[in-house]
Amino acid sequence: MLPGSDKLSDLWKRDGEIDEALRRETATIPLVRAPEILHLQVTERCNFACPKCYLPELNATSPETELTAGEFETKVLRPVSDLGVSKIVITGGEPFVYRDLFQVLRCARDLFQEVFVGTSGFFLDDKNTDRVLDTELDCVQVSLDAASDQLLEKLMGCKTARRLWPNLERFVRRRDQRGASTRVVVATVISRHNIHEIPAILDRCRNIGVDSVTLQAYHEYDIIYRPETIEWPARVRYDDDFLRQMFSLVDQVIKAKRNGCHLFPHPEYYFLNLYTFFADRPALKVKCEADDFLFVDSRGYLRGCIFSAPLGHVDNGILSYLTSPEYHRFIEFKNDCHLCTHGCAYRPPMD
Ligand SMILES: C[S@@+](CC[C@H](N)C(=O)[O-])C[C@H]1O[C@@H](n2cnc3c(N)ncnc32)[C@H](O)[C@@H]1O
Repeated sequence: MLPGSDKLSDLWKRDGEIDEALRRETATIPLVRAPEILHLQVTERCNFACPKCYLPELNATSPETELTAGEFETKVLRPVSDLGVSKIVITGGEPFVYRDLFQVLRCARDLFQEVFVGTSGFFLDDKNTDRVLDTELDCVQVSLDAASDQLLEKLMGCKTARRLWPNLERFVRRRDQRGASTRVVVATVISRHNIHEIPAILDRCRNIGVDSVTLQAYHEYDIIYRPETIEWPARVRYDDDFLRQMFSLVDQVIKAKRNGCHLFPHPEYYFLNLYTFFADRPALKVKCEADDFLFVDSRGYLRGCIFSAPLGHVDNGILSYLTSPEYHRFIEFKNDCHLCTHGCAYRPPMD
């Protein structure tokens, strides 16, 4: 049985429909816990080449292998929402590189209570800004790891990265002009390469009027979990100078929160864990909450978390994945894994 599990039949009760025959038929299936959030990579392709990217398949899968928007609807979005999953994170790769993104977004808007899109912001020109706002997404998250154009170009491996801040500014301005309710979040990944620019990033975000900033740690992992082997990553050491800057940043954030600043939605202990992640990772004891998510990639593969190899495929059914020995074994593994800063490192500020 999976920890904290609901009865499978309760999943159906949530929809207000109890089919007795189905309930009897499913009574022998192992009990499962319905995930809360669908994490959907519509593509693994990206117009940037960030050396830090955790995706092993970055730019390695072709458009032909990606599910079509119709397939995403019938094989992923509908069955997952039928299971009672109410929130969706649409990401990539770069989601705006996926040809029928807006079709997927509209379908997600119809089927899920909360729709969240994570993007570099590169494609948020006038036209796409209006189309995104027309779609009435709950949240758009833009990733920005540097305040200066020089560092941004270096971290993203491309000169065009200088469009990102102006695009973000335009998006927030247009959102405000239209009185739209889409929240704008900036996600910043902290590493030894950009720690010195984090205060300037926060200043720019405040001046532009973004709703919140998610500060994350650079995770030096790609695949850790495979059904046949677990590859625990080597220990990484950060120097004293970096740790001093991290400590001072966490101190400033916590003080700002205590003074009523709303820019940082995560609780104080999250920022303390962020420091521990760099300073003393073996002491990090954050409960992994990857089972709050269902991770689906552009080809329909299902994973335990973003650091897991594929464990199933949507063609074989989502419920059959959630009740499979492969998923079950991953859950046992993840209960003992404390490698991420907030349970699931990529949990967006949705609640
Ligand atoms: C892989 S990107 C995909 C979506 C989109 N292209 C973007 O730029 O946001 C999703 C998020 O993961 C972050 N990210 C990528 N590699 C990471 C790593 N190794 N550690 C921590 N965060 C990472 C990115 O900065 C971004 O905020």
